Amino acid sequence: MKHDGKVALVTGGTRGIGKAISMRLASEGADIILNYKTDSATAEETAEEIRALGRKVWVMQADVRDDKNIRALGKRIKTDVGQLDIFVHNAAFGTMGPILRMGMFSWRAAMDINVNALLLMTQQLAPLLKENGGWVIGLSSIGAEMAFSEYACIGVSKAAMEALCRYLAFELAPLGIRCNAVSAGPIKTRALDWFAYPHAVDNYAETKSPLHRMGKPQDLTGVVSFLCTPDADWIVGQVIKADGGISLGENFMDWLSPEEKALEEAKKAKKRA
Ligand SMILES: NC(=O)c1ccc[n+]([C@@H]2O[C@H](COP(=O)([O-])OP(=O)(O)OC[C@H]3O[C@@H](n4cnc5c(N)ncnc54)[C@H](OP(=O)(O)O)[C@@H]3O)[C@@H](O)[C@H]2O)c1
Repeated sequence: MKHDGKVALVTGGTRGIGKAISMRLASEGADIILNYKTDSATAEETAEEIRALGRKVWVMQADVRDDKNIRALGKRIKTDVGQLDIFVHNAAFGTMGPILRMGMFSWRAAMDINVNALLLMTQQLAPLLKENGGWVIGLSSIGAEMAFSEYACIGVSKAAMEALCRYLAFELAPLGIRCNAVSAGPIKTRALDWFAYPHAVDNYAETKSPLHRMGKPQDLTGVVSFLCTPDADWIVGQVIKADGGISLGENFMDWLSPEEKALEEAKKAKKRA
């Protein structure tokens, strides 16, 4: 299989998108180091699902906001596992709200978890990653280059993360390590519960994507898996967008009044008949 013999670390790998990535890499042969912050029951459930695929799992609690936790995690990976081929930085933090009233605690926490943790973890893990030629992937968001209401805390930190991926790629490539970012549009996970109106995000995705549906965690796993193969060797320091086409542009039909839309639908139906 594609990832036979590889070991992958997924931060926040126990639920949502991180879980889907862990499961995908495991189903393609990788053993998995599952990191999480607080929810040990969910971590154990995911670990069980990975074991059922016949893969090895190491469950490692660590708050990646904390430098000491990150150093301890790095040490544990070296001593308990002794190998690392893929590092996916998926854990994230952000507070929703207007930027003019954004508290510095939230702002700094987002920078710590979304950006600084990627740097510190990569510094710790590069010696292991370079042994067999490895991969580093940062999970980003289309809010890094588009501006969404109340999303500044996350969007700005993800933009910094994308820049960090480019700089890491520059220094890691000569060591045989490829670093890229995957930028997602809205994906149905528990993270959306933090939005004031989660259904508005669903409506947005269903309207703006030419596929007319909300994203699912599994929509991102293929691209992450592909980036961690020799087939993607020439992709270095890039941000690969996987957003169902949401950020492509506008469909003018979306700007018609409900009456005009109904009229257009009726015209189309007549033509089809
Ligand atoms: N969902 C979307 O619409 C969307 C869109 C674009 C990009 N993304 C990105 O995709 C990634 C995953 O998002 P998601 O929606 O799957 O998130 P999620 O459902 O909220 O899952 C977050 C995971 O990260 C862990 N985590 C949170 N803070 C941590 C910390 N300080 N240290 C270690 N682990 C921590 C959680 O562990 P516990 O369970 O222990 O708390 C959990 O496993 C994020 O980088 C996010 O920005 C998501």
